[in-house]
Amino acid sequence: MTTDTPSRELRSQRLNKITHAPHEKLDHAVKAHAPFATLSSYTRFVVAQYLFQSELQTLYRDPQLIALIPDLAQRCRAEQAAADLQDLNTELPVGVAGAVQQPGVAQALGWLFVSEGSKLGAAFLIKRAEALNLSHQFGARHLGEPEGGRAAGWKAFTRILDELPLSASQEAELDQGALAAFERFGVLLEHAYAGSAAPQADVAQA
Ligand code: HEM
Repeated sequence: MTTDTPSRELRSQRLNKITHAPHEKLDHAVKAHAPFATLSSYTRFVVAQYLFQSELQTLYRDPQLIALIPDLAQRCRAEQAAADLQDLNTELPVGVAGAVQQPGVAQALGWLFVSEGSKLGAAFLIKRAEALNLSHQFGARHLGEPEGGRAAGWKAFTRILDELPLSASQEAELDQGALAAFERFGVLLEHAYAGSAAPQADVAQA
């Protein structure tokens, strides 16, 4: 390698770049629903988070993916989101057609990139949830700081992702997975806020 070799963009940096616009769009969509204005609006947001996490549960438990990311199973937040819904006296929602089905490893990593990255924004969201008297121990467990810290968890994930050998077609599948994940969260968000049955937010004292 010569000294004038331009430094190559990391894979995670490329993913950050290509998902910037979808993230902006989703951020606006989330905020448009004012999820922290009332407990019942927040509950709908948790429904979306639960649906998203539960769809990804098979990826978080996949032995092939765990072979690449040893702590993958512990990173899933489906259980925390389910417990949050229980705290909020809300039944677990039934699944929504269109969940990701048996993606290849590279595509799965794109989905996981988005799910794991969303823990960074959760640092801001949990502060708003606190204004609703919720916390990482009650109602906002899925937004809580992961063991070992958000930054460390994210760095460990992206380091593994950045170092994996992937073919050109797998790089494309990775990008596709990340974009599909943003798209899917948008669908689940609208699903959670649609419909007539506003969840009862009759919450017991934390
Ligand atoms: C389902 C996926 C995601 C959702 C629903 C989501 C949602 C949000 C929302 C609503 C905010 C605004 C928080 C506030 O202003 O109070 C935010 C901020 C943030 N998100 Fe995400 N996000 C997702 C994925 C990601 C990913 C993949 C990354 C990183 C690769 C990421 C990194 C961040 C960061 C660093 C912030 C802090 C402020 C900023 O830089 O915009 N998020 N996210």
